[in-house]
Amino acid sequence: MDDIAVEVEGVDYTYSQSQKVHALRNVSFKVNTSEFVSFIGPSGCGKSTLLHLISGLLNPSKGVIHVNGKKSSSGLGRVAFMPQRDTLFPWRTVEKNAVLGAEILGIPRQEALQKASSLFDLFGLSGFEKAWPSELSGGMRQRLALLRTFIIPRDTILLDEPFGSLDALTRHEMQQWLQQIWDQDRRTIILVTHDVDEAILLSDTIYVLSERPGSIVQRVEINLERPRKKKVINSTEFTKIKSEIFQILSSGI
Ligand SMILES: Nc1ncnc2c1ncn2[C@@H]1O[C@H](COP(=O)(O)OP(=O)(O)OP(=O)(O)O)[C@@H](O)[C@H]1O
Ligand SMILES: [Mg+2]
Repeated sequence: MDDIAVEVEGVDYTYSQSQKVHALRNVSFKVNTSEFVSFIGPSGCGKSTLLHLISGLLNPSKGVIHVNGKKSSSGLGRVAFMPQRDTLFPWRTVEKNAVLGAEILGIPRQEALQKASSLFDLFGLSGFEKAWPSELSGGMRQRLALLRTFIIPRDTILLDEPFGSLDALTRHEMQQWLQQIWDQDRRTIILVTHDVDEAILLSDTIYVLSERPGSIVQRVEINLERPRKKKVINSTEFTKIKSEIFQILSSGI
């Protein structure tokens, strides 16, 4: 198996719709198979753009991206992607939304439904299987979008602020769940988050991005012992990494 899951080389991206926006500048990094990588950076610096590029939904203006050795621009569906804005279909019930991504990839609906139903409880959605998305709270919608992403059988998962609209307690539960799942199946995860604690708690490697056009200003390796419990947040090592990241972010590079 290839050891590199995702390779981004010299990538620039400029949007050119109503106006030109230079979103990313000269971004290069490699993600190893089974690595947990996070991206953190100021709002509007191009984090979501980067995930869209890796997923193949956008093509780089310059540079190249490989996913499992294949150019990302050569086809969709190589990764499981949870976009920042949930994309639930209002005309499909909760359970039918849950299996949508898997179905698109040709997984039989029954098989996908079975997989989904084993996770509803954990995701705090049981009892709502037949409900409509409009009957869910913001946090429930987000958990459904996350569940949908996880049942997509792909080795690489892209998550764009998956816990953004959850309350602190649920967020913590979901972080623990994510750690556990990752520990079990070791899929490659690329996470975008605004939450420095979350990035340190979950990641092997954190990339800190500059203001737009986003470029990598620092790569931080996290060697804290796993599994990481909530209390690790108070450890000296954690605090040191956190202040290093805050310093970079607040210098407004
Ligand atoms: N579809 C689009 N068309 C034109 N410009 C866009 C589009 N999507 C994003 N942009 C612009 O590209 C820049 C980067 O946007 P992006 O969504 O990648 O930022 P982000 O880092 O994810 O921000 P946030 O943390 O707020 O989610 C922004 O200035 C945004 O206005
Ligand atoms: Mg974003």
